[in-house]
Amino acid sequence: MDTWALDETVTHLNHGSFGASPRSVLEVQDRWRTEMEANPVLFFTKTLQPALDETRAVLADFVGADPAGLVLVPNATSGVNSVLRSLEPSLGPGDEILVTDHAYNACRNVAEVTAHRTGASLVEVPVPFPIESAQEFTSAVLDRVSASTRVVMLDAVTSPTALILPLDEIIAMLEPDISVIVDAAHAPGMVPLNLTALGASFVVGNCHKWMCAPKSAGFLWVRSDRLHEMVPATVSHGWNVEPRVGASRFHSLFDWTGTDDPTAKLSIPAAIATMATLHRHGWDGVTDANHQLALEGRRTISERLGLDIAAPDSMIGSMATIPLPGPRNAAHGDLEPLTEQLRMGWNIEVPVFSWRDWPDRLLRLSAQLYNRTSDYERLAEALSSEMT
Ligand SMILES: Cc1ncc(COP(=O)(O)O)c(C=O)c1O
Repeated sequence: MDTWALDETVTHLNHGSFGASPRSVLEVQDRWRTEMEANPVLFFTKTLQPALDETRAVLADFVGADPAGLVLVPNATSGVNSVLRSLEPSLGPGDEILVTDHAYNACRNVAEVTAHRTGASLVEVPVPFPIESAQEFTSAVLDRVSASTRVVMLDAVTSPTALILPLDEIIAMLEPDISVIVDAAHAPGMVPLNLTALGASFVVGNCHKWMCAPKSAGFLWVRSDRLHEMVPATVSHGWNVEPRVGASRFHSLFDWTGTDDPTAKLSIPAAIATMATLHRHGWDGVTDANHQLALEGRRTISERLGLDIAAPDSMIGSMATIPLPGPRNAAHGDLEPLTEQLRMGWNIEVPVFSWRDWPDRLLRLSAQLYNRTSDYERLAEALSSEMT
């Protein structure tokens, strides 16, 4: 665990919520902060922009994007706010914004606010869980798309159910007539990405989850034909100041949204480089090891508690969700009291979400390089004790 700053007395099985960074990446961030605080004026007026440009280039390469369409944002929520705000002028009564009932609540809420502001309707498509194939998901979404659908927001990897979604096929059916927003909060560092080939209009992602950058490092990518529509959720100087030489209006609008601490973003290249050194097969090795461990963890718990496997292996990345029997004690999507019981009684961090109907509760486990098989055995033991 020396590699990581994590508290060793805790069994960390929730990398998915907020990620974790290797110490050496945090040290790079510390160095950026020291430089910033040594001469804030010099840092913000001279040092920052070239460093942001360099970060953008490195990240663009990692996610298969053209730097011209890529900007750094604090997090996926902020990216979704910017996209939906930018789409407001094109939406009106009779239009539909479609999300699924596996969507992350914060991003779903942005869609609801957009619907209120524009007079459009929010359509929430129910998707089965447990799920037998990716086709089930595709059909659920495409069956609900209509002549009124203008925007579809889909996760690359769902939050409560931890499913890798079949985006290529759905996007090919919808774009360019219907705008697809991909919420890829969990995808970078978990599944290979080629944003340009994906073909969506907009993709938002987090670098502070599975890429293990420090917190407050996300991105927004916009397809070239949609760039002219973009307005950041936080408007700043770029609106009426000419972009600097060589920069686009899009970069200018998003590169400065007011004074904040940009050191997490500037540490993205260090996270990409460091994580690649932590497995002998580089990033492919990291994602594959995490995937195998997530499957093993799911197997360990399901066998010990006699629970069903809820999704095919091919729809699982570095997280897996296991349906638990009830009773349900929280509102749909909220954390169940069992989460706190596991924290207080066992020093285990793992989320248990309340879910509609059956299954009443969903336990979502994560697998990152710092996890061991024994972590899941310990969770299985805790669950069998707490659930009897
Ligand atoms: C699918 C999904 N979208 C968006 C987010 C929001 O991420 P952030 O809080 O970094 O904006 C999350 C966070 O877990 C998520 O799982």
